[in-house]
Amino acid sequence: MEKTLTFERARIGEADTLMKFEERVADPRLYGAPSNLERARREIRRNRLYFVKSGDAIVGTAAFCSKPGNRVYISNVAVDPRYRRQGIARAALTFILGRCTGATRIELVTHPENEAALRLYSSFGFEIKSRHENYFGDGEPRLVMSREAIADRRETHVNSSGSHQTTPS
Ligand SMILES: CC(C)(COP(=O)(O)OP(=O)(O)OC[C@H]1O[C@@H](n2cnc3c(N)ncnc32)[C@H](O)[C@@H]1OP(=O)(O)O)[C@@H](O)C(=O)NCCC(=O)NCCS
Repeated sequence: MEKTLTFERARIGEADTLMKFEERVADPRLYGAPSNLERARREIRRNRLYFVKSGDAIVGTAAFCSKPGNRVYISNVAVDPRYRRQGIARAALTFILGRCTGATRIELVTHPENEAALRLYSSFGFEIKSRHENYFGDGEPRLVMSREAIADRRETHVNSSGSHQTTPS
């Protein structure tokens, strides 16, 4: 795989691309059911949602949004199963944290049995704050995790087309 990752902000017209990506990633219990077009549009509209690309291939997504009280909520970090364990989620999280400089707290929600996500987030200093038995109304438990918003020092480059590049470790 090419080493440089590009982060491209999703446009509303790319909802079908997001939907197709989410079909590849979907895990109805641990992560969530595949999206439909309306939900994909809503995700792009409400969040800062980026496609993570390696060359022309969409290998992941990363999304976050601002919340009242100087908080940032990470609504999505996902990697295509074919590209996992190559540091892409780590690069995506680093990318997001680098954009949270004005925030005081960063929050996210994950399933207590999502071992990969728990390890990933713990390694970035996120701590479990609370457990909710039916957080999204899907009958599955979720953990709320958070950490302070100290920007990761790792550099992310902005190129002339407005997309961002970084390199997975
Ligand atoms: C969780 C997920 C984003 C990790 O993506 P990834 O690109 O494979 O992760 P990385 O290669 O960047 O790994 C970073 C760290 O995450 C942890 N990790 C990732 N996959 C793991 C796995 N299968 N088992 C245990 N730990 C894992 C490790 O701590 C890893 O660090 P290490 O490689 O130094 O051990 C990916 O498995 C995914 O897309 N899952 C489905 C969507 C999802 O659950 N997203 C999170 C929802 S809140």
